[in-house]
Amino acid sequence: MSIIFHENSRVFHLSNNSISYILRVMENAQLENIYYGKRLHDAEGLERHHEMIQRSHSAVALPEPSLLSMNFATQEYPVYGTGDYRSPACTIRQENGSRIMNFRFASWRVEKGKPGLDGLPSLYCESNEEAETLVIVLQDEPTQIQLHLFYTIFKDYPAIARHVEFHHHGEQTAYIEKALSACLEFKDMDFELVQLSGAWARERYIHVRKLEIGHQGVQSLAGTCSSAEQNPFIALRRPGANESLGDVYGFSLIYSGNFSADVEVSPFDMTRVVMGINPEYFTWKLNPGESFTTPEILLVYSACGMNGMSQTYHQLYRTRLVRGIWRDTPRPILLNNWEATFFDFTEEKILAMAECAKDLGVELFVLDDGWFGSRNSDYEALGDWYCNMAKLPSGIQGLSEKIEAMGLKFGLWIEPEMVNENSDLYRMHPDWVIHVPERFRSHSRHQFVLDFSRKEVVDYIGDLIVKILEASKISYIKWDMNRYMTEPYSIALASDQQGEMMHRYILGVYSLYERFIRQFPNILFESCASGGARFDPGMLHYAPQAWCSDDTDAWERSKIQYGTSLAYPISSMGSHVSIVPNQQIFRITPFSTRAKIATFGTFGYELDIQCLTDREKEQVRQQICFMKKYRRLIQLDSDFYRIRSPFEHNEMEEIVVAKDKKTALALFVQKTNRVNGSWLRFHLAGLNPDLHYQITCQVGDKTKEFTAYGDELMYAGIVVDRQDLNANGGDYASLLYEIIAIEQ
Ligand code: DGJ
Repeated sequence: MSIIFHENSRVFHLSNNSISYILRVMENAQLENIYYGKRLHDAEGLERHHEMIQRSHSAVALPEPSLLSMNFATQEYPVYGTGDYRSPACTIRQENGSRIMNFRFASWRVEKGKPGLDGLPSLYCESNEEAETLVIVLQDEPTQIQLHLFYTIFKDYPAIARHVEFHHHGEQTAYIEKALSACLEFKDMDFELVQLSGAWARERYIHVRKLEIGHQGVQSLAGTCSSAEQNPFIALRRPGANESLGDVYGFSLIYSGNFSADVEVSPFDMTRVVMGINPEYFTWKLNPGESFTTPEILLVYSACGMNGMSQTYHQLYRTRLVRGIWRDTPRPILLNNWEATFFDFTEEKILAMAECAKDLGVELFVLDDGWFGSRNSDYEALGDWYCNMAKLPSGIQGLSEKIEAMGLKFGLWIEPEMVNENSDLYRMHPDWVIHVPERFRSHSRHQFVLDFSRKEVVDYIGDLIVKILEASKISYIKWDMNRYMTEPYSIALASDQQGEMMHRYILGVYSLYERFIRQFPNILFESCASGGARFDPGMLHYAPQAWCSDDTDAWERSKIQYGTSLAYPISSMGSHVSIVPNQQIFRITPFSTRAKIATFGTFGYELDIQCLTDREKEQVRQQICFMKKYRRLIQLDSDFYRIRSPFEHNEMEEIVVAKDKKTALALFVQKTNRVNGSWLRFHLAGLNPDLHYQITCQVGDKTKEFTAYGDELMYAGIVVDRQDLNANGGDYASLLYEIIAIEQ
């Protein structure tokens, strides 16, 4: 890994064994991107990639005879107003109303390792040898506002982390109207845009479109979260690139609030990607002496297809974004009571469920919504974070002790950011709700959003929850959040600071998470938002796992988890086995398939375990044994490969392969069964072609076994016998192959 500065040409070259990222200081002292992709030799003369050509309507940024036009430069952090007619990365309104800025190169430095971001989630290093950071300082002379552009290159990953700091050294207040985390430009438009879009119960579906001239992209204005509709991730891939071949550029924003990712293709076929906090409804007042930091973005380049990109995200997010003891610890197998009881439970019922779960091998019992205040439906009590003693006479303290005494760990559901109108908290503080005075407050799920941009609100809620965490034996917290923001406004902010409200809200959420994880470092946090509306890298810095979706149907989950895997590791995917007909889609799928899909995640159950038949209970025992045997491999010690997409085929195929390639688990799931169907071959990936493996697969009540070399398994494929699919349930049947290298 190195960061080289060529003094004469003023070219910076960041590189490691796999990538180069090259930028230069242009003749007008602004920054231009020269190249990002597969590693290049360092050499003089790379500035030749800027072609100085006269084009029509170009405004020239320097006195005659210069031809330098910002409209044709591939810029690092563009502003509008000096001849570039594309979308800028930053806009600052000054006291005189002008938004014209000229950020000129002032200085640069290289730091060992990687700095953190104040109050924001970010990647980190464990030693200074893992990464180097280039900081380029640009200055606008008239306003004395500086931009510090941060570029971290990791030694072992084809990845660059970027963010920007705004520092105001001038004398007049300014307003940041747009402060994106990065701009990246390409000189052509020969790409497909890959995005993860959806809605409640069908989050993160993979969508692909060819780039066209004009704007295309994704955004969230949900306010409280990154949203179920769009994920803060996009990729640009070369046509023809697939899961294992071709060039792919990934963009992933480490942020949980409003975001935008805009891909603009100019009529000259140049592609500009800008991504960061959504500039809609955003302004930040920057007083003299103050600074502002954007969220971090992680750029990943892959020369070996989508799997190559995903594996870099998986590895970096799992090991250098997630923190604490759970980063390296296999996740407990849990039972959650939500789909079993909803709000209708008693202490007796909970204890009976826990007892049964313990007997079958479950390790953690999670008490979901309904344990606090007068909460018996979703109409009341959010905000009243003290136990409902009528329902649970021993309190959370007593209940948690009883469950621990059984040999289980205890987990609890909370939704700290919300309040119902029918609650003690609302009666005490109606003005803590996000609203505009004298205007209607829109409700959603009968609840309102607390103003987490206000420290006193965050502190009050934090104090209530800390009291419970201190008094009880709690090993796990599910932090839920069940509505988007409306009427964004804070009565605590001045009128010229209202544009800060939604970002401050997210900073408030992060600060409360930080308080909890500092005070209770052993608690495992799982984030959740009406299912998977907050599945973003920002959350992973605090909560190592996230509830993927309220849709637990096996086939729906195979799509949701397949899409999620584009940017997120298996260890982050909360995945449970639930009953059939499925409560969301009313589909019936085999029990074994539901368990196999959940195996490729954190694994748990979300059903009334006592109601299972003896045969099903026996299956649960076996499923749990299997998960305990393999969870370290699945969640921590392997590489994950997508093989066949459920978005394009009747089958879904994927595999986890141990780092040493001696163990693997390959999953084949079909949607509908075919009668008199064609041949099926499951071409595995990631194995060692020269290793001889033993393959075992459960078919009905029998175990099928055979041996084969890695090359046969990958290139000729496993013969999938349709009779085996019939035996495993027909529609939605699945086959899970255990693949173990035979000692030689
Ligand atoms: C939405 C979550 O996604 C569910 O799992 C459950 O916790 C409910 N909220 C509880 O209200």
